Amino acid sequence: MMVVQIKFLKGKEILPELDRKIEEIDQLAFADEDRDDPDLKGIEWSASQWMALAFINNQLVSQLGMLKREILVGKSVIPVVGVGGVATHPQWQKRGLASQLLKASESFMRDQFKLPFGLLVCAGETQPLYAGCGWQPVAQSLKFIQEGQRRTINTVVMVLLLSTQPWPPGEIDLCGLPW
Ligand SMILES: CC(C)(COP(=O)(O)OP(=O)(O)OC[C@H]1O[C@@H](n2cnc3c(N)ncnc32)[C@H](O)[C@@H]1OP(=O)(O)O)[C@@H](O)C(=O)NCCC(=O)NCCS
Repeated sequence: MMVVQIKFLKGKEILPELDRKIEEIDQLAFADEDRDDPDLKGIEWSASQWMALAFINNQLVSQLGMLKREILVGKSVIPVVGVGGVATHPQWQKRGLASQLLKASESFMRDQFKLPFGLLVCAGETQPLYAGCGWQPVAQSLKFIQEGQRRTINTVVMVLLLSTQPWPPGEIDLCGLPW
């Protein structure tokens, strides 16, 4: 049986050796992403404040990052938990690990961040993975700011409701770098 251990670590609590493993999975998983998608070319991604990490036999196999941000939706300022860098080591994919990590992160987001929404962007192909974990699509594009310039990404935007508050209507502006 596959025993999966999940840990939530703050960025600064992560020791260099583990940090290298996180970077390694990130590189392996996202190797071709920027090259394949012209929309993502040249984008600088925000660093995470927290990592959710899944281990099997003390080996890191799946990960995601979380950060707290205030964004604009229409004219409303909305605090969100940004989720990004969702990745499973290529040798461990399609075994339910990312789903397990996403589900475990939901209660962590509720308890630790106490914010009404999670928000992530994803490619159309990965939308079913997030939908299966309770995330809902809310837009097909969003705005962000990089080096003082407002830019647009055409991508699926999904939110996770973490309270009874409904997602408001309006254009989404991350007011900074995406994640
Ligand atoms: C996307 C990614 C994180 C998914 O990780 P994963 O651990 O393989 O995810 P899961 O196993 O939970 O789910 C992936 C698929 O495997 C299927 N699956 C789950 N358990 C399975 C099993 N035991 N056998 C076969 N398939 C299985 C799921 O149904 C899911 O199918 P779906 O695509 O229809 O949703 C991984 O493929 C990855 O790192 N990709 C590259 C980076 C990337 O694109 N990240 C997402 C950025 S938005």
